[in-house]
Amino acid sequence: MARSGKVAVIGAGFYGSTTAMRLAEYDIFETVVLTDVVEGKAEGLALDMNQSRPIQNFETKIVGQTTLPDGSGYEAIKDSSIVVITAGLPRKPGMSRMDLIETNAKIVRQVSENIAKHAPNSVVIVVSNPLDEMTALAQIATGFSKNKVMGQAGMLDTARFSYFVAEKTGSLISEVKTLTLGSHGETMVPVPSQSSVKGKSLSEVLPKEEIDKLVERTRNGGAEVVALLKTGSAYYAPSAAAAEMAKAVATNSNKVMPVCAWVDGEYGINGVYLGVEAQLGSNGINKVVETKLTDEELAALKVAAEAVRTKQADVKNL
Ligand SMILES: NC(=O)c1ccc[n+]([C@@H]2O[C@H](COP(=O)([O-])OP(=O)(O)OC[C@H]3O[C@@H](n4cnc5c(N)ncnc54)[C@H](O)[C@@H]3O)[C@@H](O)[C@H]2O)c1
Repeated sequence: MARSGKVAVIGAGFYGSTTAMRLAEYDIFETVVLTDVVEGKAEGLALDMNQSRPIQNFETKIVGQTTLPDGSGYEAIKDSSIVVITAGLPRKPGMSRMDLIETNAKIVRQVSENIAKHAPNSVVIVVSNPLDEMTALAQIATGFSKNKVMGQAGMLDTARFSYFVAEKTGSLISEVKTLTLGSHGETMVPVPSQSSVKGKSLSEVLPKEEIDKLVERTRNGGAEVVALLKTGSAYYAPSAAAAEMAKAVATNSNKVMPVCAWVDGEYGINGVYLGVEAQLGSNGINKVVETKLTDEELAALKVAAEAVRTKQADVKNL
């Protein structure tokens, strides 16, 4: 496949730098731009990543750029077709994602305004937490159409659920299919009815109590990593998820994946950013794809929608 285009990753912390590295290693982009407010951090990481190219054999160039609070440096993201926002604080043990809202809203607003100015035709993928609220804020602050702004959560939460099911059942990862919808927080909705092992539904493979435990472990998947690391949050699985979304947009793959997308009518839910399955292409979200849910799962998805709706309404004023 020919290499083309530019993708930018804002924030060169653990999430941003691993995402940039994965995107570069795909070797499908001409350039990956990595930016950060800490002087020299993005440049240093980009230099290091470029030096891995002769070993890993890829041609995509990585450009590091410091950005200042006045917006200088953002010229580096000019003409990017995709921008991934990872700037913002991660949580520490005992914190909820919502504890980050005030600090990260200021960062995400400032970043989004600069994206609108320098990469006005881009598709934006938000990962900063609290995810559903920061995605809504990025859409407001960029002024982009809602299909062009999405958040990463469902890919990660689904991958966590799949990993736990594979471990519990002694299966290969490739034999397991799961799904997680809803918010990236307390109202996350793992969907056992759409989950299977070697084509057999989860309820045929595991007793209900075991499934309930895996669902609960999935909801706490991020906190489990934070509690072990103590100084930050997960980034290997999260960056795999964001990079895969960016690849789907870059290649116009039309792949259906669980993401945080604008929902307006699907599942009887109106006007909110929520974790659902959606088809991704070069314009961002082509369409939200409704999945068959049990009554209980649908009720949980509606609870999630109302929980994030209230917070998303508040975010405008932050
Ligand atoms: N959506 C998800 O599934 C998911 C998963 C894991 C982490 N996260 C979130 O991703 C974010 C980043 O996590 P991390 O582990 O990389 O944290 P980190 O602390 O390692 O990195 C954050 C980076 O953002 C930079 N930054 C701060 N303000 C900035 C600004 N205005 N412009 C540019 N850069 C700025 C910091 O200098 C730092 O390098 C956090 O909010 C975290 O909660 C989301």
